Amino acid sequence: MTKSITSTSRRRFLGGVGAAAGVAAATSSVPTRFAIGQQAKIKVGILLPYTGTFAALGHNITDAMKLAINQAGGKLGGREIEYIAVDSEADPAKATANTNKLVVGSKVDVITGPVHSGVAAAMVKITREEETLTVISNAGAGAATGEMCAPNIFHTSFTNWQPAFPCGSVVLKDGHKRVVMMYWKYAAGFEFAGGFRDSFVPGGGTVMKEIQVDFPNVEFQAHLTEIAALKPDAVYVFFAGGGAAKFVKDYHAAGIKIPLYGSGFLTDGVLQAQGEAAVGIKTTLHYANDLDNPANKKFRADFKAATNRDADVYAVQGYDTGTFLVQAYAAVNGDTGAKKQIIAAMEKATIDSPRGKFTFSKAHNPIQNIYLRQVKAPGQEVFLGVAHEALADPAKGCKMA
Ligand code: PHB
Repeated sequence: MTKSITSTSRRRFLGGVGAAAGVAAATSSVPTRFAIGQQAKIKVGILLPYTGTFAALGHNITDAMKLAINQAGGKLGGREIEYIAVDSEADPAKATANTNKLVVGSKVDVITGPVHSGVAAAMVKITREEETLTVISNAGAGAATGEMCAPNIFHTSFTNWQPAFPCGSVVLKDGHKRVVMMYWKYAAGFEFAGGFRDSFVPGGGTVMKEIQVDFPNVEFQAHLTEIAALKPDAVYVFFAGGGAAKFVKDYHAAGIKIPLYGSGFLTDGVLQAQGEAAVGIKTTLHYANDLDNPANKKFRADFKAATNRDADVYAVQGYDTGTFLVQAYAAVNGDTGAKKQIIAAMEKATIDSPRGKFTFSKAHNPIQNIYLRQVKAPGQEVFLGVAHEALADPAKGCKMA
């Protein structure tokens, strides 16, 4: 097991490095920090799951991030890159040690990832204190850009509230008033449920029951029996990756005909595996495969050519993270020490994303469209319309917002 490094030792360690750089800068008119920085590689830390229920998500984020950077010449601000990846296993219990491996052990210039909101909470706790540039390329943890928000922390992905909130109105519009919710019992599940409730309940809907399943369990049978007995008008769920593939197949196999709704993570990346079982499902998400914009068409073709896999929302988020880093480091010519200017460039960034162009809120979250999608045939999901245009997370508790 990795020995965890205390925050005091981290501070002392980083303080030493900073002090040395300060002395060099003060005694020379030559921009020493910059000159030295030019020769060293920029260290990009990656904390993503490569094993377990979220493994495919981690691979798509990683490969698409590198694709974006390679398409921009394979460098950041003119400097070569050293990628240092750690398998998070989507395990919050290992997240502090894994983050420390990158932040303290490898002294990365920027850390990207993770997928799991519980891992993000532990990661942000450390990077906030160490002021390590942090670009969250999936985990929707609201706290990271809410009460834990900080100048050095950005979401290039979403907050869990964002794709969830518009879905409550969609379900009501479809005429469903009584809903059962089901989700993994950790921060992301709670936040998806909260976002859904925020539009569903004030609109006149009733949540009959919230069924919580320990992460990453995929034993759904008893819960499905309960849902069938409760007879709600509709069911709203949050599962993702391998768990989403299994849930949809189990729901179908149980013969339940109650309309199924969810965050788009229910089908993204697992639609082929779900086959016939997914037909009819409606979801809301900040991406849809068939969005009709040039960036999306090019990206889907390029990702397929590079990986021989179909792009999904995770690949989009990885790609946008790569673009974000390219833009930010270009603004300072690769000077990793110019943190304030890097952050200023990030705050001003417009990403011409496959999901549609987006900018960042004061709390450092994407202001983005949320799309309604439906599976029309096995393996075929279509864009139905914009469920909410330019939606910003409320960023509750963030002092910067
Ligand atoms: C999360 O834990 O924030 C999370 C995980 C997987 C997803 C979306 C959100 O697909």
